[in-house]
Amino acid sequence: MSADVSKLDAYWMPFTANRQFKQAPRLLTQADGMYFRDDKGREILDGIAGLWCVNAGHNRAKIVKAIQEQAAELDFAPPFQMGHPKAFELAERLAAIAPTGMNRVFFTNSGSESVDTALKMAIAYHRVRGEGARTRLIGRERGYHGVNFGGISVGGMVANRKMFGSLLAGVDHIRHTHDPARNAFSVGIPPHGAEFAEDLERLVALHDASTIAAVIVEPVAGSTGVLLPPQGYLQRLREICDKHGILLIFDEVITGFGRTGKPFAAQTFGVTPDLMTVAKGITNGCVPMGAVFAQQKIHDAFMTGPEHLIEFFHGYTYSAHPLACAAGIATLDTYADDDLLTRAARMEGEFAKALHSLREEPNVIDVRNIGLVGGIELKPLDGQPAKRAFNVFLDCWDKGLLIRTTGDTVALSPPLIIESGHIERIVDTLRGALRRAA
Ligand SMILES: Cc1ncc(COP(=O)(O)O)c(C=O)c1O
Repeated sequence: MSADVSKLDAYWMPFTANRQFKQAPRLLTQADGMYFRDDKGREILDGIAGLWCVNAGHNRAKIVKAIQEQAAELDFAPPFQMGHPKAFELAERLAAIAPTGMNRVFFTNSGSESVDTALKMAIAYHRVRGEGARTRLIGRERGYHGVNFGGISVGGMVANRKMFGSLLAGVDHIRHTHDPARNAFSVGIPPHGAEFAEDLERLVALHDASTIAAVIVEPVAGSTGVLLPPQGYLQRLREICDKHGILLIFDEVITGFGRTGKPFAAQTFGVTPDLMTVAKGITNGCVPMGAVFAQQKIHDAFMTGPEHLIEFFHGYTYSAHPLACAAGIATLDTYADDDLLTRAARMEGEFAKALHSLREEPNVIDVRNIGLVGGIELKPLDGQPAKRAFNVFLDCWDKGLLIRTTGDTVALSPPLIIESGHIERIVDTLRGALRRAA
C-alpha cells in the first residue's frame, strides 16, 4: 500500500531516513506484551523493547492504570521549590535498588538530559569542594551519550558530532574497547582488553589529573553496535579514577533496569560509579523520564551555604512530572511482581546459544551478547556501509519482527518477559533475512 505522502510531510522524523521512510512507511498503531501491531493489522514481534525501554513488555495494566489515575488526580506540580509525594516515593524506591551508596536521585526527562545533568554535576561538585580547575570531561571513542551538546561532546560517534561545530571545549576521549581480532564470537564478556583502561593514564599524563572532572562511559555501549567491556576493564577504570580523584560516570540509559541480569550493569560488573545516568526503563518507556543517581557524598558536598539559597542551579520544568512518577512507581511494582530485574540472567544462556547459532550464516563476522542484549555484526556491502544491515532490518520488518541496526550491526534487546518461543522466532527470522541478504 503506498502512503498518502501529503499527510507525512510535516513530521521531520528523528534519526530516520525520512525520504525512504515516507515512500514505504512503517506505522505502529497498537502494542501488547511482546508485540506491536501495525496499521495493516499485522503482529510485529518486538525484538528491541521499543528502543531499549519497554523492559516489562507493552501496555502493562498496572502502569496504564497508574498513569490514568494520576492524570485525573494531579496533572502537574511545579518542581522548583515545590514537591509532590510521588516524586519522593519514586526516588526512595529507586535508591533502594541502586548500586551501593547511590542514594540521591535527580530527575530529568530523557537520557540526553540525564547525561548533561551528570556532566554539570561533576564539574560543579569539584568546584564546591574548592577544586574548580577540574573542568575537563573525558568520554570514549564510539560512546553514545544522547544528543545534547554535552552528550555529543563526550560521545564518540562521528556522525553525531561532525555537523555541529566545535562542541564543548576541554573534552577528550579514551580509546574504545572493540577488539574483534582477539574477541570475535566471545560468548558473554570478552576476555581481552582490560589494558584499554590504561588509556586514561595517557590523558592524565597529557592534561594532568587536577584539570579532569570526570570520565563517562557506557558499561555496555549499545548505539555503536553492542560493545562489551573486556573482563576487568571497568574495574581498572575505577581504580585509575580513584587514584587521580576523577569521578566515574556510568551511562546506564540502556543497561539500567534489568537489561544485563541485575537492576544495573554496575551491579552485574561489580563496579560502582560516582554518578549514574538512567532513562528509558525507568517508566517502562510509557512516559518520558530520566534520572541521575549520585553517591551521597556528591549530593552532600553541595549542601553548604545559607539554607534559603538554591544549592544546584539546574532542573527542568518537567523534572519529576507527576505522570512520570506514577508510571515509574507502577513500573518498579511490575518489575518486582514478575521478578524481571534479574530475569535477563536466567534467560542469558538460552539467548546466547540461539544468537551464536547464527555464527555460520552468510556475512556474520561477530556475535556479541550479555544478559538480554545481542549484537550480530555483518560484513558491510562493498562501498555501502550500513546497507546490508538495513536490508536485514527491512526484511525482518516484512516478516513481522522489529530489530534495530546501527552501522552494520544488528542489535537485539527484547522485553525482559521474553520466552523461549520468542527467542526461536527472532533467531529463525534473522537467519532467513541474513541468507536473503547474502
Ligand atoms: C547510553 C545512552 N545514553 C543516552 C541516550 C539518550 O537517551 P534519550 O534518547 O532518552 O535522550 C541513549 C539513547 O539510546 C543511550 O543509549
